Amino acid sequence: MCGIVGYIGHRQAYPIILKGLQRLEYRGYDSAGVALINENEVNFCKTKGKVADLAAKVSSKISDKGNLGIGHTRWATHGVPNDTNSHPHVSNSGNLVIIHNGIIENYESIKKELINRGYTFSSDTDTEVLVNLIEEIKIRENLKLGRAVRQALREVVGAYAIAVFDKTRPDEIIAAKLGSPLAIGIGEDEFFIASDASPFIEYTKNAIYLEDEELAIIKRGHEVKVRKIKDDSLVNSTIQELKINIDQIEKGGYDHFMLKEIYEQPNAILDTFRGRLLVNEGIVKLSGLENHLDKFINARRIIIVACGTSWHAGLVAEYIFEDLARIPVEVEYASEFRYRNPIIYEDDVLIAISQSGETADTLAAIKLAKSKGAFVFGVCNVVGSTISRESHSGAYTHAGPEIGVASTKAFTTQITLLSLMALRLASAKGIISKSQLREHLIELELIPEKVKKGLQSDAYIQEVSKVYKDTANFLYLGRGYNFPVALEGALKLKEISYIHAEGYPAAEMKHGPIALIDENMPIVVIATKKGHYEKVVSNIQEIKSRKGKIIAIVTEGDTSVKELADHVIEVPETTEFLTPLLTTIPLQLLSYHIAVMLDKNVDQPRNLAKSVTVE
Ligand code: M6R
Repeated sequence: MCGIVGYIGHRQAYPIILKGLQRLEYRGYDSAGVALINENEVNFCKTKGKVADLAAKVSSKISDKGNLGIGHTRWATHGVPNDTNSHPHVSNSGNLVIIHNGIIENYESIKKELINRGYTFSSDTDTEVLVNLIEEIKIRENLKLGRAVRQALREVVGAYAIAVFDKTRPDEIIAAKLGSPLAIGIGEDEFFIASDASPFIEYTKNAIYLEDEELAIIKRGHEVKVRKIKDDSLVNSTIQELKINIDQIEKGGYDHFMLKEIYEQPNAILDTFRGRLLVNEGIVKLSGLENHLDKFINARRIIIVACGTSWHAGLVAEYIFEDLARIPVEVEYASEFRYRNPIIYEDDVLIAISQSGETADTLAAIKLAKSKGAFVFGVCNVVGSTISRESHSGAYTHAGPEIGVASTKAFTTQITLLSLMALRLASAKGIISKSQLREHLIELELIPEKVKKGLQSDAYIQEVSKVYKDTANFLYLGRGYNFPVALEGALKLKEISYIHAEGYPAAEMKHGPIALIDENMPIVVIATKKGHYEKVVSNIQEIKSRKGKIIAIVTEGDTSVKELADHVIEVPETTEFLTPLLTTIPLQLLSYHIAVMLDKNVDQPRNLAKSVTVE
């Protein structure tokens, strides 16, 4: 779970690598490093800390010249974050240099064997073992770098996206992938290598996404050659045209990516249903679903697998699918599902939800379901991501790049897409009338404007945040469709402000959490007009009589809750199953402002990474 960047061409490599690493910091940011080749000499710089620390060190310590280079931003797996464990790593001869995203699981046994052969190691990493294994094979069998890498990769177990060069052949980089993403940007006499396309988007729109167990030979003045690691066969890779542009990955005047992404939600939701929600015709068109409607309609059940925020979207979808399409749904943490020997039937449909499309646990759950014959449908944001490619079919959320580690627009666009799917299935099953479907479509089409309106409460939410920023604990309560929103609100606060928060179904409060309530406990209650409103109002009364501080999310014009709550944040009215799209917004803003007031690193919270490609 790291970011890798490489360049070979006619430009200076360092500025490209540095900027690329900054864009990839969402993948990990506990240490960073760069290696540049200039006139057969390699200049290295590695440091604990962020890419900005690396830049400072490079400017004072090494020459940044050269038109071949590789760089890395790390999220530690093997070995603590320090200068030595940072990438790039070098082989014992000093000739081979590598960057790696992933984990080599059998590195210990390989390391022992290499030590027996006289190799020494300075870091605790699996990557240093890999580069020396490549070197050992290269020397022992007198192979070119590409062949040595291929042979070494056949001996390792685990996951990798790597880029390796040999300083004695400064015209070539070898890249390979298994389980971790790797894109190759193809320019005019220049090539870029990166964990995603963001580092090279201003230089080229053409890219090859390597598939698992593929190796690319990237040589100055030649076309990229891709081979299968298993049997050396040549692969005819497709060059894809990239659709993202540079504005989408910059902050655009906002202080943080998270805030920018919260404010992007009206457009992101619109992009999710663009061309798919056809109000005039009264239909939903999802090309990835259309050819597989029978799979869903005849499914014994739908199993949704996901992690974190995507799992919360899955929980919302459970309510929506069962309510609208009357298909039984189970929602599973991907990490639990894959390890508990689950019963999977051939007529099950598995929906995998993932913003990044790279989450290792979700990917493993997909592989398990496929091995049992289930049909897999991927709901991803990142186009071309591994999960989208591993699924039998799927649909993209089209939210645009999400850079802030805390997921915001990914969540609302996932719910939007899953709502479209549920509506399409309900109409295919004939359990929703044309006029009901049309009403839902009209309501859904109004959501972007309503989200915009909800965002107008930002200044007031900032005031509320001031009152509670120093609180040690928070409770979030919601019912029905808004129970998962309560979970999501609590997760958002925890991950960026480090304040302990718990989400609960409102009615569960009396079975335990009520014991936590006193005058110091803020409780965020989602109490919109539709969905057990009276019951939630009773819960609010119970909180009030125990002196808890109530922050209520209510429907515009509500009066009953206003009398009870300490703070009231209004959201526009909508049909019940769409309320999560509106109630989520104030919770995102609340956690954002509290984190900013506490001076936390909002976009890159401690210990986290944007895409979790380790199990
Ligand atoms: O890329 P994915 O949607 O698969 O990621 C899943 C989780 O890692 C992710 O949602 C995580 O919980 C976020 N930090 C939440 O804000």
